[in-house]
Amino acid sequence: MQVPKFREFITETDVGRRDKPMTVAIVTIADSKDPKENTTADLIQKACKKKDIKCVIVNTKSTIITQKDEDKNTLTVYNYDGKNGEHTFTGRDTVCIVRGGALEDEAGLSIISAFQNSQAFMMNTRAAMLTCDNKLTTALLFEKYGIPTPRTAYVSNENNIKTALDMIGGKFPIILKTLTGTQGVGVIKIESYEGLVATLQAMWKLEAEVLIQEYMPSDFDVRTFCVDNKIFASTKRSHSSYDFRSNTHRGAEAEPYILSKEEKELVLKASRASKAYMVGVDHIIYKGKPYLLEINGSPGSGADYEGYQHKDYYSDSEPAGRIDGEKMMSNVIDWVQDRAHWDRQSLVECGWLETIDLDEVGKVRCKFDTGNGSKACALHADEIISDGKIVKWKYDGKTFTKPRHGKSEVFRSNATDEPSEIRPTILMDITFNGFTYKDVEVGLDQRPRSGSDLLVNRDLMRLMNLSVNPNRTFVLSRRLRPIDKKGKPDKVGFDKK
Ligand SMILES: Nc1ncnc2c1ncn2[C@@H]1O[C@H](COP(=O)(O)OP(=O)(O)O)[C@@H](O)[C@H]1O
Ligand SMILES: [Mg+2]
Repeated sequence: MQVPKFREFITETDVGRRDKPMTVAIVTIADSKDPKENTTADLIQKACKKKDIKCVIVNTKSTIITQKDEDKNTLTVYNYDGKNGEHTFTGRDTVCIVRGGALEDEAGLSIISAFQNSQAFMMNTRAAMLTCDNKLTTALLFEKYGIPTPRTAYVSNENNIKTALDMIGGKFPIILKTLTGTQGVGVIKIESYEGLVATLQAMWKLEAEVLIQEYMPSDFDVRTFCVDNKIFASTKRSHSSYDFRSNTHRGAEAEPYILSKEEKELVLKASRASKAYMVGVDHIIYKGKPYLLEINGSPGSGADYEGYQHKDYYSDSEPAGRIDGEKMMSNVIDWVQDRAHWDRQSLVECGWLETIDLDEVGKVRCKFDTGNGSKACALHADEIISDGKIVKWKYDGKTFTKPRHGKSEVFRSNATDEPSEIRPTILMDITFNGFTYKDVEVGLDQRPRSGSDLLVNRDLMRLMNLSVNPNRTFVLSRRLRPIDKKGKPDKVGFDKK
């Protein structure tokens, strides 16, 4: 099945995409109650301007989506407040930064989803934003991942106040928090049982959902800014003498803070657990040990930080001196300017066996080989008849010819630097799930495999933006038997499920 409509587009968009300019979309609400909210968007805009990157603010309160082309993965938005006017984003070239305000209403959530569906690289996905936004979800997450945190219990009605209190140790003072809420608002210190009951009644009357938490007095909390599960910056916020909360919005002083090895490990564990790409992780030190307080999917940037640098893939991020919020956001934009750092969510799940269309060859049973980092996919060849400028080979009893493109070396043993096999490669167009991928390098493999006739390497899977489900076969395509190969029966069975 060839789909000519997609053909040109896919060739254009995917091959050699790295050199295409990227656009940053900031999804936010301009009339945020939080002045810092806009500051972060401003700093991102500033950083983009300096680097000559187009940056568009998408204001969820004054934006409509005028067009969505799901075949091309483009999205056109219109800001009717006049700022930025109309803009068309190409998902694959867009970095979408979601600010917390966008979660406030359904319109904001649907704009986030629209960007996500256009295959933009999300900082952060809708799911990650919602996880971070809810303090009960994060408390459960911390528990699941064994991340030390103050003992926490959800209180939903008067009958379970005592049980909840026992669960967190039963001693006053305690902390009461609304499930959603930021900048310290909704975080209350309660000194007595009477105070707790009265406050809960008032909260419930206002339809707030609340949790209670063990109180861990600390003069400061630490905010660590993580991007791509790496530490970018950390700051210590010392609360003022008349408030126990160390939010800068509550008058806390922020100064650069250098994390210990133990703190780094804890913070990164929380960042990974959150599944968020850009996250502010807050912890306190209580009796000499770090405890995680919350993860924030829309971290502000109004503070002075210790900046960190990443030497290489394996070593820890190391402190590299004081930076301000502007420099931090600039470092973040530098990081995501490299598309190898993008973590695009794969929207499509396929089975580990599927049927794909291969140029003149036709339908072929393929295996998605996630462990295959070689530069070419591998197609079974019954026989290579001649190999020169033109390669002539036999597949399923038929003869094919193609210009030789290069070679693919296969190493099977670590004992030697010599490849155990050298295969000629050719370029083929591959169509799968409605898209055609042009000029994919394919090596011709004379080693008969039983279950599949084409091995798809990781590079092509990345291009297809797929995730492979090891439990399933033929999710996106019709079942197909592998071709007959002498003495190699199909062990998988073409119709097992
Ligand atoms: N269990 C606790 N014990 C002591 N102080 C706390 C506790 N929980 C929160 N705080 C203080 O209140 C501040 C705000 O709480 P946090 O959970 O981070 O909510 P917010 O999302 O409003 O920032 C924290 O930075 C910390 O200083
Ligand atoms: Mg906080």
